[in-house]
Amino acid sequence: MPITPHGGVLVNQVDLGSDLTEIEVEIELDAMALSDLELIATGAYSPIDGFMGREDYLSVLHNMRLANGMVWSIPITLAVDVDRAKVLSPGQKLNLKYGGESYGVMELREMYHPDKKKEAEAIFQTTDLQHPGVSKLFDRPGLYLAGPVKLTKFPKKNPEFSRYHLTPQETRKRFAENGWKTVVGFQTRNPVHRAHEYIQKTALETVDGLFLHPLVGETKRDDIPAAIRMESYEVLLENYYPKDMVVLGVFPAAMRYAGPREAIFHALVRKNYGCTHFIVGRDHAGVGDYYGTYDAQKIFGHFRPEELGITILAFEHSFYCKACGNMATSKTCPHSAEDHLHLSGTKVREMLRQGKFPPPHFTRPEVAEILVKGLTAEQTH
Ligand code: ADX
Repeated sequence: MPITPHGGVLVNQVDLGSDLTEIEVEIELDAMALSDLELIATGAYSPIDGFMGREDYLSVLHNMRLANGMVWSIPITLAVDVDRAKVLSPGQKLNLKYGGESYGVMELREMYHPDKKKEAEAIFQTTDLQHPGVSKLFDRPGLYLAGPVKLTKFPKKNPEFSRYHLTPQETRKRFAENGWKTVVGFQTRNPVHRAHEYIQKTALETVDGLFLHPLVGETKRDDIPAAIRMESYEVLLENYYPKDMVVLGVFPAAMRYAGPREAIFHALVRKNYGCTHFIVGRDHAGVGDYYGTYDAQKIFGHFRPEELGITILAFEHSFYCKACGNMATSKTCPHSAEDHLHLSGTKVREMLRQGKFPPPHFTRPEVAEILVKGLTAEQTH
C-alpha cells in the first residue's frame, strides 16, 4: 500500500489545454506563485486545492494547522497590488498569467490584507529584512487573493533537466514499479557534499529507496544555480550510488528559508510525493543564524506521529574526522574539533567561485569539478 497523501486524497487540479480566452480578468503571478500553482495542481500540496483564504492563513500562522485542524506550516498565498481590490469581486474567474502567458485559472472566493509583520514573526521568527524570506514577504504586494485553482499549462521546464520534473503521481508510480515500500526523501538547495551523502546513505541502509529531491524553484542570489547543481547530482549518482536505489526528481517550489516551519512543510510535501521517511539534519532550511542547529528537528515534537504521517529521520551535524578516517557525528566520533573537517556553505561557494577545489573529504572531486566549471563560466557571462 503506498503512503496516504496528506488529507487522504492526492489533489489533481491539472486541466491542460482548457480555453481561457473568455476570462477577461488577468492576474500576473510572480515566480513563487507560479510554482505554487503548479504544486497545488499536481497534488504536492494536498490537501490544499487553491491559494489560502484568511481562515486557513491565520490558522497556519497561529496554530501550524489549516482551519480544519490538519497540520500545515507555511502559508500558500497569491499576492497582488492593493489597488486591484477595486476591480475584483468574489465569484470572478481569474486568468493566471506569467510573462504574458496563461498558466491557470482561479475562482476568486476571497480577498484580504495580511498583517505582514505578524506573518514574518510567526513563520520566520523575525522581521529582519536581511532575512531573505522576510524581505521576499515584504517585497510582495499587499493584497492576498484566495480560491481554488486549475493548472492549464505546465510552467516551462529547464530543458537541461526537464526529465526530472516528476509529479507526485509519477513518483508514486516510479516507487511502486521499483517495488519500494519505504522511501526516504531528501530536500536540498545545495550540491550534495560528503556530509549530505553520508546521511542519505545512512538512511538508505534501513529503507528501500532514496528520493533525491533538490529544490529548483526560486532561491536567494548567492545559492548555487539549479542547472549547475543538477549536473553535479547526476555525476555523483553515476559514480557513487547504486542506480536502482535512487530516484532523482526536482522540486519546483521556491525556497522560503523558514527553518523549522519549512522543515514541516518539506516533510508533508514529500509524503505527498510518496515518501515514507524524510531526512532532517542540521539547520534544515535555515539561513544565517536565525534558527538553532536542531530547531527544525525539535518542532516535529509539537505533533502526534499520526498527524504527520511521515517518519522523520533526524541527523546530527556530520563531518569528516581525520582521526576516524571517515564521516561521523558527535554520536559516533570521540575526537576533538581539530580532527573534524567543517566548511561553511558560504566558504565553499567562495572557494568554488575562485576556481578552487574543496578538499575531497568535503566534496567528491567529480562534483567539485562540475561546480568549479559551472560557477566560473557563470561569472564570465
Ligand atoms: S536546505 O536548506 O535545503 O535544508 P541543505 O541543502 O544544506 O539545505 O541541506 C539539505 C539537508 O541536509 C537538510 O536536511 C540539512 O539539515 C541536512 N544537512 C546539511 N548539511 C548537514 C551536515 N553537515 N550534517 C547533517 N545534516 C546536514
